[in-house]
Amino acid sequence: MKRSFASDNNAPVHPDIMQAIINANNDDFVSYGDDPYTLKAKNIFNKKFGVDVEVFFVCTGTGANVSAISHLIKPWQTVIAASTAHIHHDECGAPEKYTGSKLHTVNSLDGKLTVSQLKPFLHSVGFEHHAQPGIISITQSTELGMVYTPEEIEEIARFANQNDMYLHLDGARIANALTSLNISLEEMITHTGVDVMSFGATKNGLLMGEAVVFLNPELARGFQYVRKQSMQLVSKMRYVSAQFIAHFQDDLWLKTATHANQMARLLAEKIRHIPQVKLTMPVQTNAVFAAIPKEIIQPLQEKYYFYVWNPEMGEVRWMTHFNTTEEDIEDFVKCIEDLLETSNK
Ligand SMILES: Cc1ncc(COP(=O)(O)O)c(C=O)c1O
Repeated sequence: MKRSFASDNNAPVHPDIMQAIINANNDDFVSYGDDPYTLKAKNIFNKKFGVDVEVFFVCTGTGANVSAISHLIKPWQTVIAASTAHIHHDECGAPEKYTGSKLHTVNSLDGKLTVSQLKPFLHSVGFEHHAQPGIISITQSTELGMVYTPEEIEEIARFANQNDMYLHLDGARIANALTSLNISLEEMITHTGVDVMSFGATKNGLLMGEAVVFLNPELARGFQYVRKQSMQLVSKMRYVSAQFIAHFQDDLWLKTATHANQMARLLAEKIRHIPQVKLTMPVQTNAVFAAIPKEIIQPLQEKYYFYVWNPEMGEVRWMTHFNTTEEDIEDFVKCIEDLLETSNK
């Protein structure tokens, strides 16, 4: 069986999560979230955020992003995101289709935005020929595996707030970011001024389940209709909620993310000693970006799944997850070394 370093989405479901689904499969319950599992899961979210948040469970990360953004934006406004953002690259134009709004991107090598990159957008404010800046969307951790510090998020949130914009955070890999900095959700999100976040969990062991979390409950008003119109209202919601309960039980979500990050660090340490392989990004979470000799890419892909990030540079992306083992890393590195040796002969 081919192991995967392609994506944390390639991981299986964590056994505790699968067990939670099985345990929930025991009786009739009211659908669409009016069930005890959903109530319990929502209460856990309040505890984790340290304030009463409004939580809406959804099926996919794209659904979370698109529904959250479309709820807060007007068609004549624009969403500003990094050029690497999932909402720009990997959502098939869904944010533009469902919001009817323009998406503006800012070039970013590490996936992060800074206030100085955002300031030029203020020139459009009040000019009726230009789409008006409405939402800043950042990804934590970024598509390049990098992490914003709470101070950096706070600075962007302050800028958004001062200029009548909302801050959306795509947290498809929020647990990887938290464990990378070893800080709490309160420190990273509640106290920094994020307005709404897409809370990811599928990449961290769930079968399927994400959440849209509004930090200011006022902003959530009417979102239940947007979720339904966005086709993200799950009828058998208790199975999503049961997964979230297990996700947070005994800090499983932090343990799985810590492990994924550790495996990425181990991989980076091991390949650092191979002269023909160059890390192209610092490793802060569970993604490793490296430039490798082009001739070994295809033979390596015959044995392992992974994506080529930049074909011209021979840059590849390797991702680890909760189920990646040290042995997987050792075998993978050995395979790279063997292929390099063969190609040098
Ligand atoms: C940064 C980011 N946001 C959101 C998503 C959610 O995507 P999906 O709609 O496939 O669940 C992903 C998945 O790859 C992602 O990497």
